[in-house]
Amino acid sequence: MRIKTTQRTFSPLALDRKIDEKLQGTAYMGTDTRKDTDKLAFIETYGCQMNFSDTEIVASILREMGYSFTSNEKEADIIFLNTCSIRENAELKIWNRLKSFKRAKRNNPGLLIGVLGCMAERLRKKLLEREKLVDMVVGPDAYRTLPALVAEAESGQKAVNVLLSREETYADISPIRLNTNGISAFVSIMRGCNNMCSFCVVPYTRGRERSRDYNSIVAECQELVEMGYKEVTLLGQNVDSYKFEDCSFANLLEKVALVSPELRIRFSTSHPKDITDEVLYTMAKYENICNYIHLPVQSGNSRILELMRRGYTREWYKAKIERIREIIPGCAISTDIITGFCSETEEEHKDTVSLMEWVRYEHAFMFAYSERPGTPASKKLKDDVPEKEKKARLSEIIAMQMQIAKEKNQLDIGQTFKVLIEGNSKRSDKDFCGRNGQNKMVVFPKIEGCKAGDYVNVIIHSASSATLKGEIVQP
Ligand code: SAH
Ligand code: SF4
Ligand code: F3S
Repeated sequence: MRIKTTQRTFSPLALDRKIDEKLQGTAYMGTDTRKDTDKLAFIETYGCQMNFSDTEIVASILREMGYSFTSNEKEADIIFLNTCSIRENAELKIWNRLKSFKRAKRNNPGLLIGVLGCMAERLRKKLLEREKLVDMVVGPDAYRTLPALVAEAESGQKAVNVLLSREETYADISPIRLNTNGISAFVSIMRGCNNMCSFCVVPYTRGRERSRDYNSIVAECQELVEMGYKEVTLLGQNVDSYKFEDCSFANLLEKVALVSPELRIRFSTSHPKDITDEVLYTMAKYENICNYIHLPVQSGNSRILELMRRGYTREWYKAKIERIREIIPGCAISTDIITGFCSETEEEHKDTVSLMEWVRYEHAFMFAYSERPGTPASKKLKDDVPEKEKKARLSEIIAMQMQIAKEKNQLDIGQTFKVLIEGNSKRSDKDFCGRNGQNKMVVFPKIEGCKAGDYVNVIIHSASSATLKGEIVQP
């Protein structure tokens, strides 16, 4: 199945945000190409960037089925929630959202409601039983069967497909780019995860790891360049284990870097145990591969890391950071951290604090541990750190990280960065905003002749923990 992609203007999405951090769903629309006779679909996406990328595949399949998209749920014929199971809160948010459709469903019995993604995979028929609101349950590897599932639901039956696949990569489906600003796009390079970190539900909701044919990845990036895109983020749960025939992740990065020197390349997520020197040398070699690595550490204590089954120790992780800084001086590094994992003592938590002080991350996504049913940790370990303690540890590292980010950003004052303009700044339409290679948000006054999608050099005059401010340096 292949359909032409249509470029539309949608609200931009902050690329470095894991959306579930805010636990906020994002809905998409596309009223510009709509005909009165079109059936309307409303899709709301939760969770990680992979889920956002999947929504673009789902949109493409729905488009083939004759659907258009609306951002107004009240006028929709079909509502999809693309869901996340990573923490209990993520699921609670979605249950509440489902309940909010009760009245709409009562007023319009023809309205169909589908749950897609990780929660569909995890809870399966339970989603049909509770609330009696859901008509379709579709797991992340079953989107090709949506035409049959929707037909089944339209005939009044409940439709479920949660089969996981060892091969599905949706390589031949052109995503409909709903969640971009026409400048940055996500490109999915692999699916699933084989790592089995003990806290994590992803291997159960996304299945076995598989890599997408590099030819289709390169072709998609070329197509994006032709459409005017300037930045791609290559996505996978563990991009460093990408392998298609004899093409490694480093080889893939190189192939994509060569598509166009005007195309910026980012990727996420790297795993500390798998990221190779070859990847680092490839990053150093190509100017258009951004000097930014998201390298989740989870904990700074080796005993906890072993219980988490992360496959590295504190010392190994520190050596990786040193290697990154040796090969790519000035490379920005961000991380993910979990506080209060099973049996974590105050002293072990302090190891996380000291590691964060040692690395001095540009950015960190921090979470309190949330036990997920069915994971190795839920079966073998006790979730015994009191909630209050988990939260206190979390607050401590959040406050510390904010201070570090602020201090690090102060060091950028006086430096000049190449920035890709994303659009108007949130605060003022007299200013542009965009990111530098290190993924930092930069705000600066507009000047004549510059527009979204242009690269400009910006000298930094001031900095907070989240933003750099400066002005364009005229060539
Ligand atoms: N593949 C990525 C992680 C994807 S999940 C990686 O390996 O780094 C994103 C983040 O959510 C994880 O890095 C972890 O910090 C957090 N997370 C995952 N499971 C969690 C749980 N049960 N409780 C709290 N945070 C969790
Ligand atoms: Fe989850 Fe670990 Fe896989 Fe990341 S690498 S998705 S944390 S199992
Ligand atoms: Fe959530 Fe699934 Fe992503 S659990 S974080 S949407 S892979």
